[in-house]
Amino acid sequence: MDGAAGEAEWQALLAGAPAEGEGGSLSSLFAPLFAPPTAPDGCIVVGRLAQTLDGRIATRGGHSRWIGGEGDLRHTHRLRALCHAVVVGAATVAEDDPQLTTRLVPGPSPLRVVLDPSRRLGAGFRLFREGPPTLLVTAAEGPDRHGMAEVLRIGCDASGGLDLAALLRALAARGATRIFVEGGGQTVSRFLAAGLLDRLHVTVAPMILGSGRPAFALPEVARVDEGLRFAWTVHDLAPDVLFDIALGRRKP
Ligand SMILES: NC(=O)c1ccc[n+]([C@@H]2O[C@H](COP(=O)([O-])OP(=O)(O)OC[C@H]3O[C@@H](n4cnc5c(N)ncnc54)[C@H](OP(=O)(O)O)[C@@H]3O)[C@@H](O)[C@H]2O)c1
Repeated sequence: MDGAAGEAEWQALLAGAPAEGEGGSLSSLFAPLFAPPTAPDGCIVVGRLAQTLDGRIATRGGHSRWIGGEGDLRHTHRLRALCHAVVVGAATVAEDDPQLTTRLVPGPSPLRVVLDPSRRLGAGFRLFREGPPTLLVTAAEGPDRHGMAEVLRIGCDASGGLDLAALLRALAARGATRIFVEGGGQTVSRFLAAGLLDRLHVTVAPMILGSGRPAFALPEVARVDEGLRFAWTVHDLAPDVLFDIALGRRKP
């Protein structure tokens, strides 16, 4: 797939970024995305969210621009440039009308993938009208195109949501094996709940909203020791902090 930087190119892509200060060692942050995949689907999947200290990614009404600072925005664009596909949920498109292109750093824009199970999004959003290729992933019947976007139909898994394992296999079959799950919280949580994230990048901004949409929503646990605990590497994205977590497809 031509849409993302090849292994030889990624160091060059990072050349314009400071090696320290904006995320500790950028090599240690991004090199795992280029490691040989261990999962049978052949994909490396990285989820990412920018959250407040109290774990919110947006206000209740959906306003989220911006929780992270400039460093977090550049980090997000860099992940787009380094990955073949960027995945977002329908609510993010409905609230933000994003472009999901690589504008703040050098490098190609990825295939844009929108999860819209009931096909509720109109064709007027920018992703469906302009820019690089977009794939609308749905369980609903309907035309094979949505504006300029191609429609991919997949079934549902045992949780009743879109079958994300099938989605990864379908993306890999197209040559898209480095997958960036950009948000929002429900979408990243569904990948996490399904045990389909290799890595998680969480930026924490020094702010409290006190209400709003949660970063993570997972099946309830009764005891603290049933929670998912892991090691992390901390990177300075001043004024924010970025946590890089090797999940290795663990399930909560
Ligand atoms: N701070 C950040 O890092 C960040 C990043 C991205 C977005 N945002 C903000 O976060 C808000 C949106 O986040 P959100 O958590 O509310 O929603 P979201 O994750 O953007 O979208 C959730 C919706 O996507 C669909 N979906 C995603 N995965 C699915 C799956 N596996 N199976 C079936 N459907 C799936 C469902 O659509 P249906 O509702 O149609 O069932 C679901 O309700 C917006 O306000 C946006 O501005 C913040």
